Amino acid sequence: MDIEIKGTAVPAIGIGTWEVPPEPAYDAVAHALSLGYRHVDTAQAYGNEGACGQAVADAAVPRDQVWVTTKVWMANAAPDDVRTSTEESLRQLRTDYVDLLLIHWPVADVPIADTLGAMVELMEEGKTRTVGVSNYTPSQVREAARVAPILTNQVEYHPLLDQSELLAEAAADGHRLTAYSPLANGQTVPEHPVLAEIGEGHGKTAAQVALRWLLQQEVIALPRSTRPERRAENFDVLDFALSSEEMARISELGSKEGRVIDPPFAPAWDT
Ligand SMILES: NC(=O)c1ccc[n+]([C@@H]2O[C@H](COP(=O)([O-])OP(=O)(O)OC[C@H]3O[C@@H](n4cnc5c(N)ncnc54)[C@H](OP(=O)(O)O)[C@@H]3O)[C@@H](O)[C@H]2O)c1
Repeated sequence: MDIEIKGTAVPAIGIGTWEVPPEPAYDAVAHALSLGYRHVDTAQAYGNEGACGQAVADAAVPRDQVWVTTKVWMANAAPDDVRTSTEESLRQLRTDYVDLLLIHWPVADVPIADTLGAMVELMEEGKTRTVGVSNYTPSQVREAARVAPILTNQVEYHPLLDQSELLAEAAADGHRLTAYSPLANGQTVPEHPVLAEIGEGHGKTAAQVALRWLLQQEVIALPRSTRPERRAENFDVLDFALSSEEMARISELGSKEGRVIDPPFAPAWDT
């Protein structure tokens, strides 16, 4: 299943690779591609671009059928560093282009327009098909959308975190959210009793209900698992649908306090 964003089809479920060292990242990506995943999410900061790229190169699936996202680390946000670090990412990934290049976190001392300007230049040269941002607040993403054709804002999103403001910004611009930590980093969501109860009616798990709830909002989801059976479970969400009542009941679980990823360098989220 794809999600259509500004004329580009993006595979709705991607395999996450944060905190996965190279060897297990290779195995996870190779296994995910064999299951039918067509979207791989990596980053300069993850230290596994080489392994992810090798798994994509070794797969039976042609490169042009796999969506590859990488992210420019904060220390590389100045325009020259965007270029050199992205060119290094492409070498690591063993590819001529990525499908999506994101700035990983907002950076206070480099103007958004400068970083995105350098990323758009790379897009015009064919080194990335699209550009986007990650961990941007409502006002930051509004500014980003003014200066570049952003495809997505990749942010934490799951049933326990209310992201209605960012969804409204996305709707106003025409971009879509990408949900990282769609299972709240494994905390609480896969065991949530309301999600489990709704899942029972569909023969699905709480984790599958959480992922399906994202897809039905046209949000891309990036679950991660070290366990092959869970990678299969997380991809097996395309054959059922939540009713509008179930969608609303799940949305009621979310609050501003539901955030699990909040490092010291994070922006003031509500600005
Ligand atoms: N842009 C950013 O700043 C940013 C930040 C965070 C994450 N991300 C991206 O988003 C991806 C996903 O986020 P995340 O890594 O926090 O992942 P997540 O999918 O929300 O949570 C992963 C955790 O959930 C467990 N899990 C996975 N599937 C499960 C299932 N079906 N049932 C029960 N537990 C399950 C995993 O344990 P096992 O491994 O034991 O299965 C793991 O501990 C990352 O890998 C990365 O690619 C981006």
